[in-house]
Amino acid sequence: MKDVIVIGAGLAGLTCSTKLAQNSIKVKLFAPAQSERSQSVMAMGGINAALNTKGQDDSVDQHYNDTMKGGQYINNKKAVKRLTSDAPKIIQWLSEIGTSFNRDENGNVDVRYFGGQKKMRTAYAGARTGKQIVTALITQTRKYESSGLIKRYTGYRFLSLILNEDNTKVIGVLLLNEVTDEILALQSDNIVIATGGMNKLFGKTSGSILNDGCTTGLLLQQNVDLANLEMIQYHPTTVDTPVKRMLITEAARGEGGRLYTLVDNKKWYFMEEWYPELGALMPRDVVSRSIYKVCHDKKLTKDDKDYVYLDLTHLPEKTVKNKLDEVYEVCTKYMDLDPTRQAIPVYPGVHYFMGGIRTDDTHKTNIKGLYAIGECSSQYHGANRLGGNSLLGAIHGGWIVSEQITQKQVDNNENYEEEVKNSLKKEKRAYEEWKKVQEKNSLTSSYEIEKEISAIMNSTMGIYRNEKQLTEALNTLTKIEGKLQDTNSHGSYYEYIRLGAITILAKAMIKSALERKESRGAHQRIEYPECNQQYDKTTTISFTDNNLSVQFRDTDEEMGW
Ligand code: FUM
Repeated sequence: MKDVIVIGAGLAGLTCSTKLAQNSIKVKLFAPAQSERSQSVMAMGGINAALNTKGQDDSVDQHYNDTMKGGQYINNKKAVKRLTSDAPKIIQWLSEIGTSFNRDENGNVDVRYFGGQKKMRTAYAGARTGKQIVTALITQTRKYESSGLIKRYTGYRFLSLILNEDNTKVIGVLLLNEVTDEILALQSDNIVIATGGMNKLFGKTSGSILNDGCTTGLLLQQNVDLANLEMIQYHPTTVDTPVKRMLITEAARGEGGRLYTLVDNKKWYFMEEWYPELGALMPRDVVSRSIYKVCHDKKLTKDDKDYVYLDLTHLPEKTVKNKLDEVYEVCTKYMDLDPTRQAIPVYPGVHYFMGGIRTDDTHKTNIKGLYAIGECSSQYHGANRLGGNSLLGAIHGGWIVSEQITQKQVDNNENYEEEVKNSLKKEKRAYEEWKKVQEKNSLTSSYEIEKEISAIMNSTMGIYRNEKQLTEALNTLTKIEGKLQDTNSHGSYYEYIRLGAITILAKAMIKSALERKESRGAHQRIEYPECNQQYDKTTTISFTDNNLSVQFRDTDEEMGW
């Protein structure tokens, strides 16, 4: 069997690689940066599992039901069943490999409240859960690196799949070294994509700008279907800083933080009034819409505001400093605010992409041999993800794919050396063409184009969407597409490739939003305010004959290979 190629070294990619290596399968792991800089490191609040250690009668079934309800029933049922029932085993494995979870008075991994769930189900390591898990996984990876089972390559970006003659199966991959512009061609019949969300498309988000959606956009152009792209999660409590939006973890509300706004100088705890059962811990889409309403509906508060307050001042100082350590740090370091004494001004910001590469319950895509895991995949979270399910989904994806590749290991003698060489030649010619264009004068700067794209995305794909804006945005993006050939990408071939890929991806997102004529979870259409059973389906977008087309497919459809 040829080495498995894993692209992306965050939690999903690291888990998949170490689990494969544990089964003596060789892996080549590529990423633009070290795992320590992956977005997984930014995950704060925790990871869900029905451990039932708090005498609350929690169960896997309740975790399943909450996840489906949170996702408004367009999640893949089989995938969620497996995700939730494997969750306790995942926590145990993470503990065994050295994740320093907080512990309760009995020595169990401690769990706390998180959004959309009535039970304490979110295991955590202070407010640095992602960082702690990544650290444990890096240690595992190093172990297999020294035995030669894993080879790690940093500074590489995905360029292209190499497909068989009828474009139905992967036979290899092209990768680009961003620093040297060296193009690498590798043969493999197992490619795992773990390249994360599409944050950079929106400019400032709570995520990493390394997660730029480029791979997803490139795959779309190579016949890989994408799904539920319109489902973009706005995290209710983010703060603006000069470089990015920063997260104030949901755990702050899980530990008892309250949301209020001032009306006539009096505190109004709007979530507690509107949703007495869960209050500020309603699912994220509901909390974000409520904040939006409070800020922009003049009938409620008389004026337009751009924040509400998250109040932690009533919590014991120890809780804030120990269990919400990263919140304390963000506030003191970036906002000059002490959250034990002052309320934090917060507003929703782009946080997570429920949609991405269309995957079935076993992470297969519609191209044989190609898997997608982590945030770039699409089957677990439906129309809205529950907090604490993203780290879980990323790790679970790595497990599932490693199991499958291990089970179907075959020594096939197929040799595609010729095809791989030809693909490399073709890409090198494209590279030379691009260099020639860069010598021309009067090119539009890629920075300008990128700014234009993210402005479009932020204004049209916000918490509420409408037909007129979406249609206009689609037309503007088509015009932008026309300018791309003559773009100054400032000496970077990757920049040039990326701009093309994200423009088509932006169009695909907007087209998906246009076609889903209902309101559900993270997708709210002004003209269609109700959820409509007709759309109890997965939005699927494909690119054929230079055309984007949307279909609504059964959420549980399998890829059949
Ligand atoms: O609020 C948070 O800590 C985010 C967690 C998540 O997105 O799962």
